[in-house]
Amino acid sequence: MCGIFGIASTKSTRNKLYQGLMKLEYRGYDSSGISGSDISSKLTTIKATGPIKNLRTKLTSLTRITTGIAHTRWATHGEAILKNTHPHLSENISIVHNGIIENYIELKSLLKKKRYSFKSDTDSEVISHLIHMNYKKTKNMESSIISTTKILKGSYAIGCMNTNYPNTIFAACKGSPLIIGKGVNENFIASDITPILSDTKHYIPLDDNEFAKITPSKVSIFNANKKIIIKKVKTSKMNSEQSSLSGHKHFMHKEIYEQKPILKEMTSRYVGTNKILPNIFGPGTDKILENIDHIHFVACGTSYHASLVAKDWIEEYTTITCTAEVASEYKYKKINVLPKTLFVSISQSGETADTISSLKKALKLKYSNTLAICNVAESTLTRLSKLVFLMNAGPEISVASTKAFTSQLFTLLLLTIVISRKFGNIENRMVKDIYKISEIIDSLYKLETDIKKISTKFKNKEHTIFLGKGTSYPIALEAALKLKEISYIHASAYHSGELKHGPLALVDKKMPVVCFLPDNHLARLVLSNLAEVEARQGQTFIFTNKKIPKKNNKVEIIKMPDCPDLIAPILYIIPAQLLSYHVALRKKTDVDKPRNLAKSVTVE
Ligand code: M6R
Repeated sequence: MCGIFGIASTKSTRNKLYQGLMKLEYRGYDSSGISGSDISSKLTTIKATGPIKNLRTKLTSLTRITTGIAHTRWATHGEAILKNTHPHLSENISIVHNGIIENYIELKSLLKKKRYSFKSDTDSEVISHLIHMNYKKTKNMESSIISTTKILKGSYAIGCMNTNYPNTIFAACKGSPLIIGKGVNENFIASDITPILSDTKHYIPLDDNEFAKITPSKVSIFNANKKIIIKKVKTSKMNSEQSSLSGHKHFMHKEIYEQKPILKEMTSRYVGTNKILPNIFGPGTDKILENIDHIHFVACGTSYHASLVAKDWIEEYTTITCTAEVASEYKYKKINVLPKTLFVSISQSGETADTISSLKKALKLKYSNTLAICNVAESTLTRLSKLVFLMNAGPEISVASTKAFTSQLFTLLLLTIVISRKFGNIENRMVKDIYKISEIIDSLYKLETDIKKISTKFKNKEHTIFLGKGTSYPIALEAALKLKEISYIHASAYHSGELKHGPLALVDKKMPVVCFLPDNHLARLVLSNLAEVEARQGQTFIFTNKKIPKKNNKVEIIKMPDCPDLIAPILYIIPAQLLSYHVALRKKTDVDKPRNLAKSVTVE
């Protein structure tokens, strides 16, 4: 899961390649590299491990380059060290690759027999050698790339240069996104639209099994029979946004605080005085949603946790049955689709490979419709789904998702209200609850000082337990994920009632147990579960608006504001995000770019 960027130009492209790569850093930041050629077609390659900024000092050797390919890596095969960093070279051939070559071991031994030697442990290096081998035979790059991809198993987006083709980039893709940008006297390849937006808004998404030859003045797209394909050039509506920290120390902190204006803005955009505005999921969608009997939610990570809340909400207020599945499982399962089933994919980035391939699978099944809830316009997911709801929460930079989660929950609450219309007259009451979000949210930020103090108690812990019941269970899952991701403390989330079925064995006087306890019909039961923890001297941290006595200093109560139960999941996650943020600060981890992760998971 990596980012690819390339420019075919006759002018100097060094800085543009570097800046473009920066915009793709969300796809991985284990290492990065650039190969470029100058007018004499001499190829120069620079590489650095760690974040892309580490390439900066090496850029001077690229001063004269006009055409180049660049790559930022999230390691799959081979450690995050220099030799595994892209571009990979085979004499006059340089390649960058995103995806996974599943049969690379067989291909490697085949190439070794042909006297190719390997410098890296990656699956990708076979591509450069295969293209080189095929080029030696055919002396034609189009044919060489086609024959190379014919024997690759797995997924790939490839950018390639050959010094015999000055100022030219070749590209191919299958199962990994790649777009071709059309500029003025320069053309581009990129994993997504963001790095090209400062130069052009015109682009062509390359489809599976398509190839491209890009020069500064021309883009040719062809198929595996070398037949030219004429494709429609799209025009992006996105702007080249520069994200800044606006006075915050980290993007995560900024994004936690952005939740208030985003939810307020979403309320004014979609919610009327006592009703949700008509057709907010697209033209004619109120009618479409009225005709749904079942929903299949599919998503990953934080987005999956949002779908779990939605499942509970919808089943509570309607007779619609819902399933919520992680995308990496959905793809490989037999799926029974009953009549009138809606498929809903949820993704912040719209580039998550598992979610994309699940949607591709769903499009072949007998769903009555597909809806994507996404934050990124013109992403692969939004291009593929029939119905699209764009959350417009603005770019989420921090790897740990925060504002996307609450925007997803808000969207799913709107969906719940729209589809619950025919099940009773509750829209008016639910809308009143929605308006309370912006009234209450400020008081959550005021908890930060207390949370900061509490965070010291987690600093030296290796394990934690998170508990919730009903819609608070997905919040426990999400809070645990946040803590794991950025503080590297192990956190497991359980339905509070499940504790006594095994996990209670883990509880001793050192074990922190975090619990989300809104004062609702389930509170009494959760309190009994907490009593089981306290009886084993576990340290409890209880986020609650219920008046409960602080029996001893092993109980820490984070006093939550009163709120209607419907909106509790949206509100309870916010102090939990702040808690993981402050624990991570104490542990001095890289909050926005935690180790081993990437913002967008573009490999399966
Ligand atoms: O972009 P997506 O919503 O599809 O991403 C899904 C997950 O990879 C993502 O939510 C991940 O779990 C986050 N890092 C969680 O903070």
